[in-house]
Amino acid sequence: MKLDFSNRLIKWYNQNKRDLPWRLTKDPYKIWVSEIILQQTRINQGQKYYYRFLKKFPEISNLAQTNDDDLLKVWEGLGYYSRAINMLKTAKIVFFDLDSIFPTSYDELIKLPGIGDYTASAISSICANEAQPVVDGNVFRLLSRIYKIDLPINSLKTRTYFKKLGFELIKGVNPGDFNQAMMDYGSLICKPKKYECDICLFSTACEAHNSNSVMLYPFKNKTKKVKERFLNYIVFVSKDNKTKITKRNSDGIWKNLYEFPLIESINEKSADEIAKKIDIDLFDLLSSKKMKHKLSHQLLYITFFVFRVHDICDDFIEIKSLSNYPFPRPINKFISKLV
Ligand code: ADE
Repeated sequence: MKLDFSNRLIKWYNQNKRDLPWRLTKDPYKIWVSEIILQQTRINQGQKYYYRFLKKFPEISNLAQTNDDDLLKVWEGLGYYSRAINMLKTAKIVFFDLDSIFPTSYDELIKLPGIGDYTASAISSICANEAQPVVDGNVFRLLSRIYKIDLPINSLKTRTYFKKLGFELIKGVNPGDFNQAMMDYGSLICKPKKYECDICLFSTACEAHNSNSVMLYPFKNKTKKVKERFLNYIVFVSKDNKTKITKRNSDGIWKNLYEFPLIESINEKSADEIAKKIDIDLFDLLSSKKMKHKLSHQLLYITFFVFRVHDICDDFIEIKSLSNYPFPRPINKFISKLV
């Protein structure tokens, strides 16, 4: 399967490769620009920014002598702005210390800011024919399906395993073509959800396909640590049936939605403990209601403490009018029982 896999893949690539602008050059500066842009960016958007970037900075000397603001203006809209800042650092090193000669060997590249195993492998294989396999999402997906590899992605051990397998597969074929063929095959055929097993060259040998378990690969470890939070909401109820709400404006969950006054704690709190923290002269606890709410990476323990307030407060609103405001789901659930 090994040699056959690589040769068949390259043959497929020669007939089906995507027509992409950086494939017309072996200039390491341009290849570097394309590979940094393409991290976390879709190929269509990546192409637009590739042209835009090279128009503004056609040579490493132009980039090395720019400033953060001008660079970020070109990068605007791409996100992950630390990529651009690291590019400027690397450009300065190449321009000032390396005589503007952009390195093409893996060992030299990996020393530069913002260049890790993926980028060093891509540039050295494409520009210098170094047999350095890239390990990216496409590679994880394609190889984990063909060989039914059950290692969870996003662990260093797994990366090392795939890199080793890549070294085996890249032997004897053109390294730059092999790496880009893996990317294209993963993007066009062995896709995350709409995998095209019907037209896949490797389906008869693919262990995941043969056991009807393509959708289970790449294997994802679901035991990501869930953060626990304790949210204590103070629901004031005045004699004239008014209450107080506030708008969330900090980053994080529920930005711009409304909530009751919140006291967040590191563990569960009793009504007495919460009451002590409230700076109001007169109030009685009417009731309390607990609920658990799961978000993708957080487990919220929410308690609503309903207090009768005897003061008249200017910034209170009618309880009846709460439905006019946007609230997070668990708070809405509570409100629906309150009114
Ligand atoms: N994604 C990242 N680098 C790529 C490349 N060289 N070709 C296609 N897709 C890519």
